[in-house]
Amino acid sequence: MKTRETQIRAEPARRADPAGNERLTAMTGAVLLVLFAAECLTLLNIGNLLTLHVFLGMLLLGPAGLKTGSTLWRFTRYYTGCRRLTCGRGRRLRCSG
Ligand code: HEM
Repeated sequence: MKTRETQIRAEPARRADPAGNERLTAMTGAVLLVLFAAECLTLLNIGNLLTLHVFLGMLLLGPAGLKTGSTLWRFTRYYTGCRRLTCGRGRRLRCSG
């Protein structure tokens, strides 16, 4: 029987997956677009639709946070030289100081 340690060693190293990140960003963007459009529509009659406006606004927080996270991840990976994102060119931020 395998111990947990040998199991972990046998597993292939997990690699960054820019394609998965791209899908996540695109899906989150689509959800945001729909919610944001609905949020803007409530502004046409904010007097009567304030509850819906606040509800949709709160709902927007989740996808907005997720999209910020997924784009930040891509940004960070790019500037730390992830080869899968930079086609092997490696783009590290240079410190001029
Ligand atoms: C992307 C998100 C949001 C957008 C673009 C947005 C936009 C706006 C705009 C343009 C107004 C002015 C409407 C007017 O006076 O004719 C407004 C009013 C207001 N919003 Fe939002 N909002 C958002 C999210 C939220 C959230 C999350 C909340 C609550 C937590 C909220 C609460 C309110 C309230 C209380 C008013 C005042 C309504 C009134 O004057 O009677 N909004 N919003």
